Amino acid sequence: MILIDGKKAAAELRQELKHEVTGLKAKYNKVPGLTVILIGDLTPSQIYVRNKEKSANEVGLKSEVIKYPDSVEEKTVLEKIKELNTDETVSGILVQLPLPKHINKQKVIETILPSKDVDGFHPMNVGNLSSGYESSVPCTPLGCYLLIKKVEPNLNGKKAVIVGRSNLNGKPMTQLLLKENCTVTITHSKTKDLKAECLEADIIVAAVGIPELVKGDWVKKDTIVIDVGINKTDKGIVGDVDFDEVSKNAKALTPVPGGVGPMTIACLLKNTIECFKRTQI
Ligand code: GUN
Repeated sequence: MILIDGKKAAAELRQELKHEVTGLKAKYNKVPGLTVILIGDLTPSQIYVRNKEKSANEVGLKSEVIKYPDSVEEKTVLEKIKELNTDETVSGILVQLPLPKHINKQKVIETILPSKDVDGFHPMNVGNLSSGYESSVPCTPLGCYLLIKKVEPNLNGKKAVIVGRSNLNGKPMTQLLLKENCTVTITHSKTKDLKAECLEADIIVAAVGIPELVKGDWVKKDTIVIDVGINKTDKGIVGDVDFDEVSKNAKALTPVPGGVGPMTIACLLKNTIECFKRTQI
């Protein structure tokens, strides 16, 4: 079984990006900038944002975090986004989710200029991705995609089963694999026989948030399994895949932690650099 080392792949990607930033700095005399807006004091969000900032600095990006208390008014956030939209030193804007209930997520996402939307959540980017045009691609599925391609560069005709239909992962993952000529099945909590669907798959991407849902006897011998889940349980953090069982069967598997997570952040940096490049003439 191939244990897909996301930590190593992310470190390699960051190294490539660092070289790229050095080249951009020499060429344009400026570096791409990432601004993250963090609202409230949820611990996981604070940890994510700290890691994003640290990684951005490591590859030489200009990085800024704007923090607001939970009680901030929606219009304050929208005004700040509009200001960042016109700031030439800001290449990418990310508003950390989830948001407090009184702030409308859709409004926030749609206020970010599509060309600075490093999350790829703006409807313009979602539409462009599904039409096969140039767009920002959400960081988690992009990370999964790059890991899959490392194991299997030619995905032509492969059968992929996506477990979970979220805007964050399942739907954009589908688009990325369709572009690679996979036959894609999207499954979810109402799917009749999830095991039978998974047994058909050459590639499984599990992103539903159910601890250890995908079992060893759901997986064929030559299947690549990508585990997006991060679930807190009594025995610690586990993914959506039963690692002990599936690692005995699959061709390749990502661990949790150390699989998809590190790649997500590296892809955010990649997206920031892409946004910068698209605005240079
Ligand atoms: N919260 C958890 N994952 C993400 C992500 O990919 N982007 C944003 N903006 N917030 C998140």
